[in-house]
Amino acid sequence: MKSRRFASVDRVVEVLDPSYPVLCVHPDRLARSAETFLKGFPGRVLYAVKCNPHPVVLRNLWQAGIRHFDTASLNEVALVHELLPDAECYFNHPVKGTAAIEAADHIYGIEAWVVDTVDELDKIEETVGKHPDVVQVRLQTASGYAAFDLSLKFGCTPVEAVELLRDVQRRGFVPAVSFHVGSQCRTPEAYARAIAEAGAVIREAGVPIRFLNVGGGFPAHYRGTQIAPLDTFFKVIREAAAKLDLPPDCELMCEPGRALVVEGCTLLVQIHLRKGASLYINDGVYGNLSELNVGKLTPPVRLIRKGGKPMSREFAPFRIFGPTCDSIDVLPEPFVLPDDATDGDWIEIGQVGAYSNAVASSFNGFQTDAVVEIGDEPDTGPARFVRTRD
Ligand SMILES: Cc1ncc(COP(=O)(O)O)c(C=O)c1O
Repeated sequence: MKSRRFASVDRVVEVLDPSYPVLCVHPDRLARSAETFLKGFPGRVLYAVKCNPHPVVLRNLWQAGIRHFDTASLNEVALVHELLPDAECYFNHPVKGTAAIEAADHIYGIEAWVVDTVDELDKIEETVGKHPDVVQVRLQTASGYAAFDLSLKFGCTPVEAVELLRDVQRRGFVPAVSFHVGSQCRTPEAYARAIAEAGAVIREAGVPIRFLNVGGGFPAHYRGTQIAPLDTFFKVIREAAAKLDLPPDCELMCEPGRALVVEGCTLLVQIHLRKGASLYINDGVYGNLSELNVGKLTPPVRLIRKGGKPMSREFAPFRIFGPTCDSIDVLPEPFVLPDDATDGDWIEIGQVGAYSNAVASSFNGFQTDAVVEIGDEPDTGPARFVRTRD
């Protein structure tokens, strides 16, 4: 799939003069994050497709060397399969409909699954039969380390996990263990603790596991957060895993979403009205910016004025309202911008590659689906840009 490519975000403004929001994909930044994981993580790196399933993002990650994909719905499996036929998908949702399991197995040849109950294991056994597929048992992890907890909804207790792992082996599947410490996890200690707990379960179960999947959750470096570099997380994971007596053919696995793609996209929005210290922009919490609201995150922002016209050197905080006709559509934190910001100007919002277009709705008729790529080549591509719902 081709998308329109521009030399810079400023060129997007010059050429498109967009009154609609434009998601700008930065292939060089995606490549850098992919390299950080592929070189630094001591095992197999899966990309969690849910975080940003846009074909332009998936294609760029593939070009950057990502070959494995954590898919959590049949549509995600189909998307990756059709776009990247040689990619390997893992169906890593602990709760799947039987029809989805059937199609994933029969049509797409999925060979890796996740369970956290014996009922889900029954479903997989009845549907995929006796293939030696990998079945990962998902463990609950402790809460409190991450901005978004996931163990409320998924994961079994250590006692249940011991029984499930034995059951997985008894039924002829290849046993593995997974967990997810929660999204935007603030400390590497969360992984060390979860790995130690997984080790105790594996020892108790006495089955040889093929993968230890430490999940996603790796943090982005949002403004105002004090977080260790990813290499520190990788080091802690490597050291914690080394303390376990894992079988020689057991591989570590991770499935990051946010940390792989958050830097890879910026969002170009236009100011449609200034009212005192409030700016009304054309995207908001029902569109690409819902994550800012839920996570109380502050992204980097910069004002762009067409034609490079001068702007004030004094900065001021502005309250930011989204486009919909309701009062929930307001960002939790102000944007600090030149104090003469006004309608017709644009704002480039950084760090919006994760859970942005993936969760955007078309509520109130505001569909935010224009996507372009930014590169150091001359502007290229079809006159039309790629829309996320193509
Ligand atoms: C099973 C699973 N893996 C990976 C991820 C990606 O997590 P993150 O974006 O925090 O890296 C998620 C997110 O919900 C998930 O549910």
